[in-house]
Amino acid sequence: MRLLLIIGIGAGDPDQVTVQAIKALNRADVFFVVDKGTDKQDMVLLRQEICERYAGNRSYRMVSMPEPERDRRSPAYRQAVERWREERAGIWAEVIGAELADGGCGALLVWGDPGLYDSTLAIVEQIAGLPAMDLEFEVIPGISSVQALAARHRISLTQVGSPLYITTGRRLAEDGIPEHCDDVVVMLDASCSFTAVDPGTEIYWGAYLGTRDEILLSGTVRDVGGQIQAARGEARARKGWIMDTYLLRRAKANPA
Ligand SMILES: C[S@@+](CC[C@H](N)C(=O)[O-])C[C@H]1O[C@@H](n2cnc3c(N)ncnc32)[C@H](O)[C@@H]1O
Repeated sequence: MRLLLIIGIGAGDPDQVTVQAIKALNRADVFFVVDKGTDKQDMVLLRQEICERYAGNRSYRMVSMPEPERDRRSPAYRQAVERWREERAGIWAEVIGAELADGGCGALLVWGDPGLYDSTLAIVEQIAGLPAMDLEFEVIPGISSVQALAARHRISLTQVGSPLYITTGRRLAEDGIPEHCDDVVVMLDASCSFTAVDPGTEIYWGAYLGTRDEILLSGTVRDVGGQIQAARGEARARKGWIMDTYLLRRAKANPA
């Protein structure tokens, strides 16, 4: 049997790696790294730094897995993502099957927490279902960008007895802030969807959280929305990629 550890590594700061993750890093003989192209080299470098820092006194191999191209223009978003996952699963099954020996322990280092907007678990579950793979897997949680955002702004994400809603920029643009919710965390937003909400809404925004490029801005959408758009555009142009997350908090209704 092969064993694969799915290890959450935090959202950008190597100090966010947990003791449980360090123990897991020291069990793996092979680290599988998805090669996302030059724009995302920072993320590959962080993974290498984490392996060296926390498991550097033992021998291991790094094996790269190519990333298939995703059709981002398709209007059928879900189907496009499904197709892309299928392709990824085929590549991963081939590489893991070839590089991880029977009895061996491999690891995949997942950005943030594996349970939050990440396809690793779905793909590993799929390939573990192939009898020829003879694969078991374990999950080690990580600090997500959502937790990092709250800590850096020194805020609680939840208000007394109220729910918290986590969604994507695309869904925020389509649905707005749900009626029953005052607090919404938005991830995977390529187009500043907060610009469409009530301008009195408070926004707590963070980009490249935990890294030396971190940017934090907060205020009402009316006051800081334009500033966030400008900072986001400038940083994205400079680095070639951006990862940002934000909390939207509905403005309190004026007391009668
Ligand atoms: C594919 S999801 C992965 C989320 C990850 N599993 C987590 O727990 O944070 C990528 C999104 O996470 C958010 N994100 C991840 N790392 C971030 C960081 N260091 N700073 C700000 N946002 C981040 C962004 O919204 C980005 O679009």
